Amino acid sequence: MSTHIRQLHARRIWDSRGRPTVEVDVILDDGTLGRGIAPAGASTGTHESVELRDGGSEQGGWGVSRAIANVNHEIAPALSGRDAMDQRALDELLIALDGTANKSRLGGNALIATSMAVLQAAANARRLPLWRHLAGEASVTLPLPEIQIFGGGAHAGRRIDLQDLMVMPIGAHSMQEALAMVADVYRTAGELMADSGRRAGVADEGGWWPDFSNNEEALQMLTRSIDKAGYRHGEVMISLDIAASEFGGGGIYRPGLEGRSYPREEWIAVLLDWIAKYPILSIEDPLAEDDTEGMIAFTKAVGRRVQIIGDDYLVTHAARVREASAVKACNAALIKPNQAGTISETFDALQTAKECGFSTIVSARSGESEDVMISHLSVGWNAGQLKVGSFARSERMAKWNELLRIEEALGSAAGYTGRSALPV
Ligand code: PGA
Ligand code: ZN
Repeated sequence: MSTHIRQLHARRIWDSRGRPTVEVDVILDDGTLGRGIAPAGASTGTHESVELRDGGSEQGGWGVSRAIANVNHEIAPALSGRDAMDQRALDELLIALDGTANKSRLGGNALIATSMAVLQAAANARRLPLWRHLAGEASVTLPLPEIQIFGGGAHAGRRIDLQDLMVMPIGAHSMQEALAMVADVYRTAGELMADSGRRAGVADEGGWWPDFSNNEEALQMLTRSIDKAGYRHGEVMISLDIAASEFGGGGIYRPGLEGRSYPREEWIAVLLDWIAKYPILSIEDPLAEDDTEGMIAFTKAVGRRVQIIGDDYLVTHAARVREASAVKACNAALIKPNQAGTISETFDALQTAKECGFSTIVSARSGESEDVMISHLSVGWNAGQLKVGSFARSERMAKWNELLRIEEALGSAAGYTGRSALPV
């Protein structure tokens, strides 16, 4: 059976925000189909791969017709006849074909959808689930999930400054149990919001709308939700994505809800105060993407107590991970395939992070689809953790539910990572 690429075709589909995105189908000589769908961020890092949008007035400028034309007219002829089993060679070809450092010519969205489609086609041709195709004979574990309860920042019209208020079910013993625990917390949070007359629907990733008058109120409500759901802090802990680049830069932080600006030292003091008061075990992008000095100072202050994740700070880039490790600017790497632009570069960032002793968290974007590839990446690459958004809306639930199917397929071999996924 030949696994060479016979046909490669891109089409426009629609993401979870109702915006256009790129879907690529790869068909191999043996008839196997592989499909990839580009996700899209809202709070994007300056250094991530460029998402090619049409601009102009149509569809608010979000159109992807140029990215799609690039797949159909440039990428398809270049990849035609190549072996889908050789992911790295094909990714290198995509990178060379684009020819820019940030994938701005053909578009990071065109490249990642193609790279994902090739990977899925290779797994399908072997008639293996993707996680098994990636892991080979190695044993795998189910990831510790980080699941959003309240959504804020760029995902909620900046209603509060904090972007993701999440929980991590560290005390669970299986994925089934982990998700059931989170379901309790999510439901309880919704009830508490309703009781206080503040239940106003959900934000972009399905977390409850953050109808709070300051950021700390959100932390109080999240802690109350965990307690009221009946969980102790050894069982369910808090994970925050501050996404500080959205309101900070140049060493100054201006969270809109706090009504004042903070020099970096004072912003760090605010974060340290929250860590002391609430059961926080993980913090993402606590300082802005340009504030290496702040990241180092923060990591020095709490690095042994809290997982400190670089997202906008590392942009799934192996060299940036290495630099961050050398100066001790964080201790964990968020891994988003579309930040890197190809599957091979995503894997390299993850491997580099592991070699540096960082923990790794495979992550969705705020703009998502029914695609469940990241669930498979988190297991097949033994990432240890997975971040997908909240516990509502099917573009999120599809990914959590896929983990349950993988857990069932693994049977008695299934292990749940739990607290050991964390570097602290
Ligand atoms: P984004 O947010 O997908 O909107 O960038 C997710 C995150 O910051 O982790
Ligand atoms: Zn983030």
